[in-house]
Amino acid sequence: MATTASRTSSAAPFVPEGADLAALRRAAAGCRGCELYKPATQTVFGAGPADARLMLVGEQPGDVEDRQGEPFVGPAGRLLDKALDEADLAREGVYLTNAVKHFKFVPAERGKRRIHKTPARGEIAACLPWLRAELAQVRPALVVCLGATAAKAVLGNSFKVSERRGQVEHAEDYDVDVIATVHPSAVLRAPDRDEAYQGFLADLRVVRSHLGK
Ligand code: URA
Repeated sequence: MATTASRTSSAAPFVPEGADLAALRRAAAGCRGCELYKPATQTVFGAGPADARLMLVGEQPGDVEDRQGEPFVGPAGRLLDKALDEADLAREGVYLTNAVKHFKFVPAERGKRRIHKTPARGEIAACLPWLRAELAQVRPALVVCLGATAAKAVLGNSFKVSERRGQVEHAEDYDVDVIATVHPSAVLRAPDRDEAYQGFLADLRVVRSHLGK
């Protein structure tokens, strides 16, 4: 039997060519490019200024984002806000989005909780036309990939965040400079949260100085 991932096709037919961010957001609300739209509450499209110099790319919306329809408004978003602030990068000036625009989850064995499930490679590939369209509209000076899913989506499947975090890369496919770092959820889960947070902050300070050039 076919798996969810192998039935995945592509968001491409849903992406209006040359559309601005508002039109992309409206079109993304009706995306049926893969199966993830079915159990999710809504599409969570990117948010932020169209002329942002910095674009942050996460993995996929979480439980809170799925309900509210905005990226990074849950616990990981709060940690991200604090780190952005400390690194002197105002969230209001940043365009925030995700590699995958629907929340993928499994129901908890007991209770009503929904447990995050990492998107499959086919689901990430299916959603990439949205990210490509956002990049074409925003044309940021720098993209920051938060965690492995975003980094692999933008820099290729062999990219390893653990080996190359905090370094300026160039994504040939999108012709944009990129810095990869850990996902804020990984900081929240780290055994030594303070150490993980300091590492995350150090990477964001590299981002700050790259943009300051
Ligand atoms: N994690 C992500 O990667 N993105 C969000 O929007 C929220 C949590």
